[in-house]
Amino acid sequence: MKYDNLQLSTKNRVAQIVINRPTALNALNPATLKDLDLAFKALSEDDNVHVVILTGAGEKAFVAGGDISVMQPLDSQTASRVARLAQRLFADIESFPKTVIAAINGYALGGGCELALACDVRIAAETARLGQPEINLGIIPGWGGTQRLPRLVGPGKAKQMMLTGEMVTAAEALQIGLVEQVVAADQLLESAQTLAEKIASKPQIAVQLIRKAVNNGLDMPLDKAIEYEADLFGLCFATEDQKEGMAAFLEKRSAQWKNR
Ligand code: CAA
Repeated sequence: MKYDNLQLSTKNRVAQIVINRPTALNALNPATLKDLDLAFKALSEDDNVHVVILTGAGEKAFVAGGDISVMQPLDSQTASRVARLAQRLFADIESFPKTVIAAINGYALGGGCELALACDVRIAAETARLGQPEINLGIIPGWGGTQRLPRLVGPGKAKQMMLTGEMVTAAEALQIGLVEQVVAADQLLESAQTLAEKIASKPQIAVQLIRKAVNNGLDMPLDKAIEYEADLFGLCFATEDQKEGMAAFLEKRSAQWKNR
């Protein structure tokens, strides 16, 4: 399948999606959001893919936000509708049946930062800058930022970022828990691929159950979330991989995962 604003490739069970509108710093216009939706749908059905890396074309930007020229003329109702469409896509990415890694190669601003927040893990180049600058446009983050950012970095830091609109450096993002790893810019894709291949080599049912337990559990009271964890833990014992993983440990050999 050909995409107007994405490049898609696959290597060693890892798919790489490059958001490709470098002249607009990869800003997300409706066509790019649609491409992303189609690409994730296609990848969900591809059994050869276990992990997805999301990155931006060029050296300057991951994604510099929603496309301001598209948003500028919107009325209130249309803006809410567009926000819901993007929120649904980002929720689909968050609950995607495979792990998604954001490789943040430059500016991740507004909707770009919100896209990274919907991913499982974020690796940033030393040169990356992240922020929610919507306040400088007279609006609030509308693609999940007001909710996912405080869940990741805490409400105080999230409000400071959103109320000032100031960007943080990759080093600051690491310090506040907004990204999980920072690497030299020329090592970014290689590091993301290494991490992705490591996760792809694990038993995938357990991988997906960990993501589910964390994502869904965060929306529950602790006692319910702990119960939910026990249910998912039990599910692992219905898999061949649990039998194999524990047998391999006891027999002092490497496990051969079947992802069943
Ligand atoms: N939407 C549309 N176009 C954008 C864009 C965006 N979010 N960000 C950058 N561009 C375009 C610029 O208009 C410019 O286009 P032209 O060459 O045709 O003039 C091109 O990309 C290069 O940008 P700059 O010349 O501005 O590059 P710079 O190096 O001087 O500055 C920047 C880089 C600081 C990232 C600056 O481009 C910027 O501030 N961009 C906007 C960031 C922003 O406000 N993002 C939030 C958008 S709102 C949002 O995302 C709401 C939401 O919740 C979804």
